[in-house]
Amino acid sequence: MFAGWGMETNRIVFFDSGVGGLTLLREFLRRYPWAECAYFGDNENAPYGNRSEAEICRLAAGAFEKIALLSPRAAVIACNTVTADCAEALRAEYSFPIVGVDPAVRPAAAAAGQGRILILATRATLAGARVRELIDRCGGGRVEPYCPARLAGDIEKNIFRLSRIRLADHLPRGEYAAVVLGCTHYIFLRERIAAFYGCPAFDGNAGTADHLAHIVN
Ligand code: DGL
Repeated sequence: MFAGWGMETNRIVFFDSGVGGLTLLREFLRRYPWAECAYFGDNENAPYGNRSEAEICRLAAGAFEKIALLSPRAAVIACNTVTADCAEALRAEYSFPIVGVDPAVRPAAAAAGQGRILILATRATLAGARVRELIDRCGGGRVEPYCPARLAGDIEKNIFRLSRIRLADHLPRGEYAAVVLGCTHYIFLRERIAAFYGCPAFDGNAGTADHLAHIVN
């Protein structure tokens, strides 16, 4: 698998507004530690999630101009927000494969049975058609979308001292059978968020890592 790695054109570039996409890079490297990867976090402009769609796409387009200079084998939008707003436009612009991430609503719905599902994601992600379609397909009524508007920024700022973040300041209270971490930043707090609700937390990283491996293989 991945024969010929080490050549520059085999590089996979992971992109996120900031540190969140590192959770996906970590998941991918756990499986394929020999993969040649680069990471582009636009920390200067993070978080993206409360910005307008036009602004998010402008920032992502600027990042991809630089990513394209690396002649990647593939690029990964390790950000639900950018995937929701700009994946199609970026795919139309570049010839290398571009893999995105979507909130893991399907596995959460399968695990939750008839129970309620909380989807945590940025404002921009929740406003996008992709999430609405996913929610509709998974039995809309029992799915509750919620945007913790300052959480990604708090994680970005406190990445080396995550224990300082008080989940009660960001998350709604409620009884849920499953919670979806629809922003790669939140995955840094997966165990704590699962414990906060006393239910399993789902994210799309494992599925995306598998899909990416399939694309570059
Ligand atoms: N990590 C990103 C996501 O998955 C975005 C966080 C942000 O920049 O607001 O949506």
